[in-house]
Amino acid sequence: MIVVEQAGDMQARIGQLKRDGWSVGLVPTMGFFHEGHLSLMRAARENDVVVVSLFVNPAQFGPGEDLAAYPRDLERDLKMAESVGVDIVFHPAPEEMYPEPFLTHVDVERVTAGLCGRSRPGHFRGVTTVVTKLLHIIPADRAYFGQKDAQQLAVIRQMVRDLNMDIEVVACPIIREPDGLAMSSRNAYLGDAERRAATVLHRSLREAERLVESGERRATEIEAAVHTVFKDEPLAQLEYIEVCDNIGMQPIAQLEGTILVAVAAKIGGSRLIDNVLLKVED
Ligand code: PAJ
Repeated sequence: MIVVEQAGDMQARIGQLKRDGWSVGLVPTMGFFHEGHLSLMRAARENDVVVVSLFVNPAQFGPGEDLAAYPRDLERDLKMAESVGVDIVFHPAPEEMYPEPFLTHVDVERVTAGLCGRSRPGHFRGVTTVVTKLLHIIPADRAYFGQKDAQQLAVIRQMVRDLNMDIEVVACPIIREPDGLAMSSRNAYLGDAERRAATVLHRSLREAERLVESGERRATEIEAAVHTVFKDEPLAQLEYIEVCDNIGMQPIAQLEGTILVAVAAKIGGSRLIDNVLLKVED
């Protein structure tokens, strides 16, 4: 496994690999790996070459968010990546990705407006800008994203379609801890009591799923049930519960087809998200 820090070096290497006929899979990450990240890397082994980008992207953190505190452990990350067969890690410095002056951004409309976009203005603009840059630096055949960040996935799919990007976006399922908590680098912030409380996101989504299975089709009832589960968990403050379509991330009142139920909550100082995709049968 090799580590590359310069964008130009990376571009030249991928260009050569592609000319030689190798297929390339890209897994964009911000590091501090867990099984969720590793599952994406394993999925990417369907390509001849697996590239992981590891870059804590300042552009997607708002003022007052956790950019400085974001957990980092490069040495451990490199060992983990190597253990699952990653070939190249792209690890640029912030100045390499955002040389001054940096004046160009990619902004996806509407899909970014609700859910996390509401409380994190500019967040998705930072994500789509860095992913566009990464796809130019590493023009892969396929890029792998987790369903854990369902809105991010929808935003990237929209961007790829709108801008005719020549990449196949591959969605990978949410990897969870044994008690149901979705794996996240941010789980490292949780104290013991908070860690126990954090299962409330998954528990509330299971309750939503149970209701849909028992025939409930009104979004208001699903939302009310999620609120009720959160009321019993004083350490958690629900930020949003949304029932929406899985393509445009627009709220829906009456459930039909494939729908996304997504929650975000604050537990102590940490902001956690989770979601479930439900197929509503008639
Ligand atoms: P990061 O939070 O490091 O996540 C990298 C990828 O891992 C994302 O596609 C995310 O959805 C996926 N992932 C995280 N937890 C997961 C889990 N429990 N199960 C499955 N997949 C999981 O998302 C980002 O970084 C950044 O926004 C990035 C796309 C790299 C742009 O900076």
